[in-house]
Amino acid sequence: MHDNLALRWVMRLSIALVTVLLPQFALGTEDLAKQQAARQITQPLNNAPMWREVRKGENPYQTTQVRGVETNILIQTEGQIWREIRNGPVTIYGGWLLVLVVVALGIFYWWRGRIMLKQPPTGRLVQRFTPWERLVHWGTAISFVVLAITGLTTLFGKYVLLPVFGYTLFSWLATLSKTLHNFVGPLFAVCAIIMFFTFVRDNIWQRGDLQWILSAGGLFTGRHVPSWRFNIAEKFWFWLGVTFLGVAVSATGFILDFSNFGQGRLLMQLSNVVHAVGALLFIALAFGHIYLGTIGMEGAYESMRNGHVDEAWVKEHHEYWYNEVASQSRTAGGVPSTAPASAMKEGWKT
Ligand code: HEM
Repeated sequence: MHDNLALRWVMRLSIALVTVLLPQFALGTEDLAKQQAARQITQPLNNAPMWREVRKGENPYQTTQVRGVETNILIQTEGQIWREIRNGPVTIYGGWLLVLVVVALGIFYWWRGRIMLKQPPTGRLVQRFTPWERLVHWGTAISFVVLAITGLTTLFGKYVLLPVFGYTLFSWLATLSKTLHNFVGPLFAVCAIIMFFTFVRDNIWQRGDLQWILSAGGLFTGRHVPSWRFNIAEKFWFWLGVTFLGVAVSATGFILDFSNFGQGRLLMQLSNVVHAVGALLFIALAFGHIYLGTIGMEGAYESMRNGHVDEAWVKEHHEYWYNEVASQSRTAGGVPSTAPASAMKEGWKT
């Protein structure tokens, strides 16, 4: 009996409320409708106020059939901002950064030339990288280069490649790039993590590193500056490149690659910008590393190609490390720390 009474009162109250509010709303919407009608005369088809409302998500009638993270969001304002940032500063300044780094390396090579050994090779070899370290290095390096080429194709392809290849060929290339990028991305992330644990031990700050910084490693003077297994420039590449940018690009890459964890468009857009900026900085840094690891310095490439370098090379570039390895092998009562090239075949190593 009581329930019925209560229900009746509720109903009465809500009818009263509706009766009071509806006219207001009707009034509000009425005003809106009048304004709209007037605007259709002065500016035919201009529904700007309504779309402004929709953009703010305030229009009571806006709905979407898609249900999920962004239910009822018809216009995602940040999307426009993202497009302007990605196609604007990221593409323009990122592109110029890469061009400038290549030009700077070209000028440095023209001015300084290949850094050659000052002392003649002794023919005695030191093992600089173990087979495992080289496997990890090339696994990371090759996946990085594939990602760099496919990523740059996605970012700059329509400006640089499309005019050359035309729509059909370019669309094939762009699709292939994107697919390769999505599959090689996770592989790079795994390699980079293994690389971190493989090389971190020799990338900590050590005595003499400051001296190396202050004399820029003798790169501009040609003077000899001793260093440990890795000089501070390599340590900088390890911490800023491999570690910091490696984590930033891989983490955002996973968010973009596996977009089925309820990510909204804003998170995807932010990840895309961080990913692109991180990757452009990483590639710019890698240009320096690859330059020194190929044409820039005599003997460097061989150290990562077959793991051994000449004794003279180690003394000249990594003297503290050479002394450390030599004293270790002497105390171990082993043969002198270096062995003739022929010994390599017998598998001598420090
Ligand atoms: C084609 C590309 C590359 C070439 C030719 C190259 C070449 C080299 C060479 C020659 C060394 C030995 C330098 C020395 O003896 O001190 C080296 C070391 C190293 N490379 Fe690369 N590299 C390349 C790409 C990469 C990439 C993409 C990464 C990481 C994302 C990487 C990470 C390292 C690390 C961590 C070391 C050990 C030195 C350190 O820990 O700082 N390399 N590389």
